[in-house]
Amino acid sequence: MAHDLVIVANRLPVDRVKGPDGKTTWRRSPGGLVSAIEPVMRAHDGVWVGWPGGTEQRLKPFKDDGLALVPLSMTAEEIEEHYEGFSNGTLWPLYHDVVAKPEFHREWWDTYVKVNRRFAEKAADLAAKGATVWVHDYQLQLVPQMLRELRPDLRIGFYLHIPFPPAELFQQLPWRRQILEGLLGADLVGFQLPGAAQNFIRLVRQRVGHKTHRDLVYLPDGRTVRAAAFPISIDAAGFQEMAESEAVTERAAAIREALGNPKKIFLGIDRLDYTKGIYARLRAFGELISDGRLTVDDAVFVQVAVPSRERVEHYRNLRDDIERLVGRLNGDLGRIGRPAISYLHTSYPREEMAALYRAADVMVVTPYRDGMNLVAKEYVACRIHEDGALVLSEFAGAADELRQAWLVNPYDMNGMKAALLEAYEAEPKELARRMKAMRKQIAQHDVKAWADSFMTELEDEGNNHRKTLRP
Ligand code: G6P
Repeated sequence: MAHDLVIVANRLPVDRVKGPDGKTTWRRSPGGLVSAIEPVMRAHDGVWVGWPGGTEQRLKPFKDDGLALVPLSMTAEEIEEHYEGFSNGTLWPLYHDVVAKPEFHREWWDTYVKVNRRFAEKAADLAAKGATVWVHDYQLQLVPQMLRELRPDLRIGFYLHIPFPPAELFQQLPWRRQILEGLLGADLVGFQLPGAAQNFIRLVRQRVGHKTHRDLVYLPDGRTVRAAAFPISIDAAGFQEMAESEAVTERAAAIREALGNPKKIFLGIDRLDYTKGIYARLRAFGELISDGRLTVDDAVFVQVAVPSRERVEHYRNLRDDIERLVGRLNGDLGRIGRPAISYLHTSYPREEMAALYRAADVMVVTPYRDGMNLVAKEYVACRIHEDGALVLSEFAGAADELRQAWLVNPYDMNGMKAALLEAYEAEPKELARRMKAMRKQIAQHDVKAWADSFMTELEDEGNNHRKTLRP
């Protein structure tokens, strides 16, 4: 069947997982991308092409919770070289300020090209004449160009959910030109922040030699490509409603109770990723206790670390480092029934997250670099009583909008300690002033507004492109 909207993303919104009993089941996929696109799919009745996790080869298109999903399989070698390798061993660290050292391997690149082609071909098969195809994220940057070659009639949008690095870093990539040309297959290339769009335009001018003016690239064939910022968001009303529900309200109280009703609860919720700054933030909290500024009777830090990319070496090492630190802090600082850190290595359904957000007095989001960070926005949406403090890294995209958070430099340990303490001690009036402003921002700029503005721009750009197709 031909579709008017095709979403192409490396992951489907559900992930095929094998349980301890050997049975396979579907589980919601981790990460911000999936939570952002799901409402768009529902609104536009699209079809979603993605990898379902695992290596199963014969999965048929299916519906899950009303969403039309088309699984695209990968072999074990493709997972190793395209997903774990080029996507998460090369691009992910390179695009996140080289927080870890990116590795460059020619076999990884070859497989990245091969898998991108498979996605492009599948999208070309599914799209109706003149349809819109929206390609997502760093795993699929070659798809726009490949798809344009197969189907010049399509309107193609691309959105990068992670940062786009400055030229000085991007230039390291041996395949920099191919990536830029891959993206230029789209009519509209969207980024989280204006700086990322500017990085892209500058690179296209310098490296590919195309003429550019402000946010437009002029291609030799007369087509133009626009690059602009569309800061992503959340379903703010949905989160608020969930937070207000009786079940979540009761669960939040039960969580506080289970933690021994401390005066204040600090909370971190992140995929277990080295970009998130989990280790440094726990150290900062631990030092506040050992310095005697906080006590384990008054405060506890709940850290939820969502398992992620567990076969990639950097991630395995990070998990060991964090868990050693948690053990040490609890051993040194905790008392019976009063650990300093309550650490959970697991993923939770959204209702449980909402209950945690409601239970927490200080939300701590301190990545070294983050495209946006939706956890920060979810916390704000769930603070229905306009209380609670957000401590937020300056290097998360969300800091551009959530100016009233306690903004910190995650590399500055003393600065981070001071901010945690200030947030802990802040008066209710001060908390309300800040939270009110942040809630207003989130309510007015939700995920629907994000998707609508991208789709509207894409339509305009696509129409321009069509004009150039006419004789
Ligand atoms: C981030 C990326 C997504 C990715 C998600 C989860 O949000 O932008 O593209 O899907 O992390 O990571 P994973 O490797 O499990 O897909």
